[in-house]
Amino acid sequence: MGGRGRFLTFEGIDGAGKSSQIEAAVAHLRRRGHQVVQTREPGGTSLGERLRELLLHQPMHLETEAMLMFAARREHLEKLILPALARGEWVVSDRFTDATYAYQVGGRGLDERRFEALERWVHAGFQPDLTVLFDLEPAIAAQRVASAGNAPDRFEREQLDFFERVRAAYLARARAADGRIRVIDASAPIEAIRERVLAAVDGL
Ligand code: TMP
Repeated sequence: MGGRGRFLTFEGIDGAGKSSQIEAAVAHLRRRGHQVVQTREPGGTSLGERLRELLLHQPMHLETEAMLMFAARREHLEKLILPALARGEWVVSDRFTDATYAYQVGGRGLDERRFEALERWVHAGFQPDLTVLFDLEPAIAAQRVASAGNAPDRFEREQLDFFERVRAAYLARARAADGRIRVIDASAPIEAIRERVLAAVDGL
């Protein structure tokens, strides 16, 4: 990896509690003297954020959704992720390609082989250095989403069985990922979760 920075991603079903833990991880890395770019998918660039708005709120064919996720990612890699890593900075992203396998393949039931082809096209040979996966029972996650009180987006409106499939796909990917994906029990007390997240990050 030479002088390149590190690419760290956070994943989990909606309501698993990623956001506050990402803030903590970024603050921790900055205290350690790293330059950190904090970003998210879909999004992270001006075009990506416009695609995000469509993806979260505009009804569309499921394959359109899948390809727009990768279109936003292509832009994100080119404009933000790869240049920052080349400058030696750390990039912390709220979601990346694991989310596509979990949501579009696991949740939506689309053919995984299509995504392997898209992934090769968009970022062959490039993966996060570490992925932290927050694992939580969908029923508890749904309560957290509801109590946040925001109008639910296209994904958050899905039923529990959708999130059961997303969760199972994430866990299957974690088992197959050869240590890249660290699973954290998101039902633990928030301080315990934070300690585990920071320990995983320090392990890099
Ligand atoms: P967020 O609410 O965690 O910011 O993520 C936005 C939504 O987009 C979330 O419900 C998961 C979904 N998503 C996918 O379905 N596929 C993807 O590839 C990505 C990055 C996100």
